Amino acid sequence: MSALASIRAAPGLDAYMDLLEERLEQAVAARRGLLSEIGIETLAAGGKRLRPLLVFLAAPRAQRNSELAVAAGAAVELVHMATLVHDDLLDAADIRRGSPTAWAAYGADAAKAAGDYLFACAFTQIARTGDPRAVALLADAALALARGEALQRGQAFRPDTSVEDYLARCSLKTGKLFEAACLLGAGSRRLGAFGLALGIAFQIADDILDCTGDHEATGKAGGVDLKDGTPTLPLIFAARRDPVVWRALAGDDVPDALERVQSSGALDDARELAHVFAAQARAALDGEPDRASLEALTHAVVEREA
Ligand code: IPE
Ligand code: IPE
Ligand code: MG
Ligand code: MG
Ligand code: MG
Repeated sequence: MSALASIRAAPGLDAYMDLLEERLEQAVAARRGLLSEIGIETLAAGGKRLRPLLVFLAAPRAQRNSELAVAAGAAVELVHMATLVHDDLLDAADIRRGSPTAWAAYGADAAKAAGDYLFACAFTQIARTGDPRAVALLADAALALARGEALQRGQAFRPDTSVEDYLARCSLKTGKLFEAACLLGAGSRRLGAFGLALGIAFQIADDILDCTGDHEATGKAGGVDLKDGTPTLPLIFAARRDPVVWRALAGDDVPDALERVQSSGALDDARELAHVFAAQARAALDGEPDRASLEALTHAVVEREA
């Protein structure tokens, strides 16, 4: 992600990321035991730290390295990590960030408990801000995530899922946490619409990468969504074009279904809609101090390879 690399050169960002990593390590290691160990491993496996980056970029320059920005950044990343630990269990995904997922390494019960532990760590951090509005924002985003995953369960093996219902799910499971990161950073209603649209574009790109992505770059196995019957945008579009993909998404065993998706033209259509949401995010910008970085991010999330 070269645009992301240029954003990473923003003044003060290195120092913020150092403070963030330190805080994340403290947060997950505050207790001893298996859950803390799983948390430490999940953290060490890496990740793009995109949501804390949003907190940083959304914050007024003078407040970017404040305690509030560090605590809020750690809190959103911990909610993200918690949902990934639970998500991998729900999706039966065995590789994340190039390493075995928590459930694959430690079993389903430990993964459920570890996800809960990470949620609790997130709320400990946000409570440190002493701002009830910040706590409520994060609680809303966490609830939206759970609702989005539940909506997705109801859509499983449904190739007739509408684009509207797909977008509603993306908004809940991904957009709301991006929105919360921006709102927590900005400390006002500003940038909420930017975050929500950016999150939807980001999830569409993730769903495309699941069909085409290079495993080395994404750190995840490909084709998980089709295998799980998850009607993502590229799969919905491909199913409309190819009855064989339709059957595969409905649960039939079709060995070359992913190749058919790739050659259907559906990925380009899906990327086009991702660009529409990226443009919507840009249109929500209005005189922010770091408009160039925020704009670059809208391009980077759609064109990313990891
Ligand atoms: C993966 O998020 C889950 C989605 C919302 C698609 P990221 O791609 O931000 O995961 P990491 O943190 O970089 O591993
Ligand atoms: C995003 O969806 C998961 C959450 C927002 C919890 P995916 O299930 O597609 O995410 P990955 O591909 O496993 O990272
Ligand atoms: Mg998943
Ligand atoms: Mg999932
Ligand atoms: Mg995915």
